Amino acid sequence: MTEAVQTSSQFTPRVFSGIQPSGGLTLGNYLGAMKRFVDMQEEGSFETVYCMVDLHAITVWQDPDKLRHATRELCAGFIAAGIDPAKSILFNQSRVPEHAQLAWIFNCVARMGWMQRMTQFKDKAGKNAQNASLGLFAYPALMAADILVYHATHVPVGEDQKQHLELTRDIAIKFNHDYGTEFFPVTEPVIEGAATRVMSLRDGSKKMSKSDPSDASRINMTDDADTIAKKIRKAKTDPEALPSEAKGLEDRPEARNLVNIYAALADMDVDAVLRDVGGKQFSEFKPMLSDLAVAKLAPISTEMARLMQDTAEIDAILDQGATRARDIAAPILQKTYQIVGMVGA
Ligand code: TYM
Repeated sequence: MTEAVQTSSQFTPRVFSGIQPSGGLTLGNYLGAMKRFVDMQEEGSFETVYCMVDLHAITVWQDPDKLRHATRELCAGFIAAGIDPAKSILFNQSRVPEHAQLAWIFNCVARMGWMQRMTQFKDKAGKNAQNASLGLFAYPALMAADILVYHATHVPVGEDQKQHLELTRDIAIKFNHDYGTEFFPVTEPVIEGAATRVMSLRDGSKKMSKSDPSDASRINMTDDADTIAKKIRKAKTDPEALPSEAKGLEDRPEARNLVNIYAALADMDVDAVLRDVGGKQFSEFKPMLSDLAVAKLAPISTEMARLMQDTAEIDAILDQGATRARDIAAPILQKTYQIVGMVGA
């Protein structure tokens, strides 16, 4: 169904992705998303647009002061991880009203049934779905608007966002079909690398998440070296030695997770890691992983803390980013309004 209307090639190669400023950044966000954002920025074949999605964050309750802090800290995290505000557009979503405006149009394109199938809604709404916010239900339409208001062609994300990106494609296809146009690109998800799904350190069947009640389940980008080492030392494992081939990690979710994390941090593939560490016990592998994690993450957390001392500078960066983002988004929204039949657009 999607191939016939595949239109991405006629669009400027442009990357868009977003991270919610709800709580701190985790190693999962870093390896699954942010590190890939930096790669795509450096690759040079894309315009790169990265966003702190504060409007998405408030689909569940956020304390206003904490939200402000988390948004600035996330901006510091982007920069500390290697996003250069001169090379990439870096801004917070609420500053570019075209996201919410296009989201309304998409609310009228997307179908209730599509939204009801979203597993993230079911997970987040929990047992009491009637009490979830309407925003949480409509969340994927706003996400589609984030992407399509830039005519983005590629969206790097972790595995957990795959279903939302399929919905984004469905919205683009339905809009194009309903209005007899090829205005919106059918975006490609970019879900690549060894760490598209970093799992909890306490339970290899659960995603590492900022909302997990156990802090020991995750590595936070603000953790210091001792905390990182302690969490890795205590990470759940099994009693076997490491295998020398990836297929030996099947049915060993905790072992596979730690090897994936190592591979992603070291920029190696899993087979290359296992060629080096196959046969080792966890008592030997865990200190190697923890040294590597500290070496890669400590400079980022130090730089984040430094940047957070000057929040005026962070605000200035977000201000500039929002202006650049609007330069792209405003004409695309305007054209959408014309297509839809809004007088005066
Ligand atoms: P969020 O804020 O939950 O996560 C941000 C990014 O981090 C990835 N991620 C992970 N990757 C690997 N392993 C994990 N354990 C892990 N946890 C999180 C996520 O896949 C994501 O790429 N809906 C999005 C935010 C969003 C967005 C967008 C993304 C809003 N608009 C437009 C792309 C394009 C979200 O909640 O991500």
